[in-house]
Order: sequence, then C-alpha cells, then structure tokens
Amino acid sequence: MTLSFLRVEGLAKQYVDTNGKPGPIVFDDVYFTMARGEFVAIIGHSGCGKTTILNVLAGLEQASGGAVFMDGRELSGPSLDRGVVFQSHALMPWRTVLGNVTLAVASRWPQWSREQVREHSLKFLDMVGLAAAAEKKPHQLSGGMKQRVGIARAFAIRPKMLLLDEPFGALDALTRGTIQDELLAIVRATQQTVFMITHDVDEAILLADRILLMSNGPHAKIAEMVAITMPRRRSRETLHHDPQYYRIRNHLVDFLMHRAKTPPQSLPGYGPRQVPLLSPGMDEAMSAATAAAVQDADHPLHGHPTSGQAASGMPMAALHLVPAAAHQARVA
Ligand SMILES: Nc1ncnc2c1ncn2[C@@H]1O[C@H](COP(=O)(O)OP(=O)(O)OP(=O)(O)O)[C@@H](O)[C@H]1O
Ligand SMILES: [Mg+2]
Repeated sequence: MTLSFLRVEGLAKQYVDTNGKPGPIVFDDVYFTMARGEFVAIIGHSGCGKTTILNVLAGLEQASGGAVFMDGRELSGPSLDRGVVFQSHALMPWRTVLGNVTLAVASRWPQWSREQVREHSLKFLDMVGLAAAAEKKPHQLSGGMKQRVGIARAFAIRPKMLLLDEPFGALDALTRGTIQDELLAIVRATQQTVFMITHDVDEAILLADRILLMSNGPHAKIAEMVAITMPRRRSRETLHHDPQYYRIRNHLVDFLMHRAKTPPQSLPGYGPRQVPLLSPGMDEAMSAATAAAVQDADHPLHGHPTSGQAASGMPMAALHLVPAAAHQARVA
C-alpha cells in the first residue's frame, strides 16, 4: 500500500457533447502521486487536458475512468480541504473584495467570530497587496487584481491542497514576480501541498519540486516527470546563476517543441505507471549547489538517488533517470 498524500490512478476523460455524442478521449492512463508538502507543476500544450485534471482533483468535474485518493480517501465532489484558483478569476460580482474572501473563510471556520473572519481575510488580502481595495467590488478592479483576490481567497482557507490553474497568467511581469515570491515564501513556510498548471517554464522551475510533462491529446498522458534538483531556497534573482537552470529549461522547452507530439506509449520502456523521472539539472560535474539541495533535509528530493540508467528509447541520452517507482517509494 502506498501512503502518498495524493494518488491519481488511471484517470481518463471523454467529454460528451450536448446531443450525448461522445467526443475524443482527452487523456487516459494518467497516473501520478504527490507527497504532502510537495509542489507539483504540470506543463503541456493547450487542450491536452490540464484544467480538466485539475477540475477532477477539485471535485468539480467527473472523470470518465480512474480515481483520485487524497489522504487515503477517494475524492468525491468539491470540499474546502482543496482551494482552487481558476484560470479566469471566479469572484462573486455583488460582494466586495473582502466579502469574497470572508465568505470562504466563514464557511471554512463557521465557529469563528465576524471579527476573526475579517482579520484573517484581511491578512491574506494584504499578502497579495490588496488590503486597500478591500471594500471595492470586483468590477472596479483590473484583471490582475481580480486574480489576486482569487489567490488570497484560496490561501485564506488553508486548504490541504492548493490547486492553481495558471494563477498568474493575467498579471503584468512585475506583479507576477512579486506574487510568485510571496507564493514561494508562504508555500515553504506552511509546507502547503500545491498542484499548479502553468505555461511558463521559468515559473515552473522557480516554484515546483517536480514538473509533470503532458503529451498532446487525444489520449494525452503524463509523458515525463522532471525533478527540480536545485536548492529549495532558490529565488527569482539568483535562479539563472545556477548551471542547472539552463539544463532544466532547455529540457522543458525541447519537450514542448519536439517530444510532446510523440505518444509516449510508442517509446520503448515507457509505461503510464512507470513515467520516467528525469533530473536534467544534473550532469557529471554535479554542482555544489545540487549536492547541497539533495543533502538538504528540507528538500523533497532528500535521499533521492541522483543517478541511474537511461531508459532505452527515451530521446534524452546522458540524462540521469530514476524510475517513477523509486520516486514514489520516496514520497510514500
Ligand atoms: N465542458 C467541456 N465539454 C466538451 N469538451 C471540453 C469541455 N471542457 C474541455 N473540453 C475539451 O477538452 C480538452 C481539454 O481541455 P482543457 O481545458 O482541460 O485543456 P487545457 O490543457 O487546460 O488547455 P489550456 O492550456 O488551453 O488551458 C479540449 O479539447 C477541450 O476542448
Ligand atoms: Mg486550461
């Protein structure tokens, strides 16, 4: 029995149109696990099914096949133990900014006094730089500000798992950077478990412990997993000084440009339950920073083997590869 915090087992989705006619199979045979406190990002081309997977994890969408277990229980329906930030903000237009957050907080902790709810909500609005806009209505805010309210609301309920669907997509570069820093600090301090969709490879490298790469649909799959082996205490300012950064970045961009269109099941050695876990950041001369990261008891890859055999048929020679099973044993 695996004790992973989150287990996704053989997830599949086929939408049915309004006439009841089944559409193509968006994805199938999707297996992955997440450890408690792990930050997992998922990258893949538009339409491969990332939002659908996130919605299934949120309990907002029913899978056509497979199951999801969190904390040993099969998920069924939405719950306040999962906080969601949607691709487009989903605020109640008739409530103020503060009112949007307090509603979620009061539902999460019904025993709290109004003052407690207000204070807690304001703390999280302050975190995203919106304390001064607390009494405004959503229509009075910019797109980026609305998105930040959604982020504050999701964090404020202290969910067991945070589900982020391109949460920073609508933000300008400066705000995006600031909020990424905030997110990183809070996630590290609270050991928050996060599943995030992003199209931004730099964002994924900065924030994630592991990145899932999805092949194109139909029948999309998790084709590879990439371990971020840089020290967990990394920052936007210094990220690009780490020699691992470019190796990881190139690997992700190469996947998106070339490998995403190849059905991974056509590659020898691939199995949807044995998705290769790659460490493209590592090379023969493992940097001191890398050694520190992997020895750092705080890093989710602590104790993780750093070299292995390259999978036959994977077009990624010279990469260190650890079978997913080894990783899953670690996170178990
Ligand atoms: N409610 C729906 N009914 C029918 N088809 C849908 C529905 N929602 C999504 N799809 C289809 O399922 C596929 C996956 O959609 P999804 O939104 O999960 O993709 P995505 O990977 O999040 O894309 P993007 O990166 O553009 O956000 C797409 O082909 C989409 O058209
Ligand atoms: Mg999407």
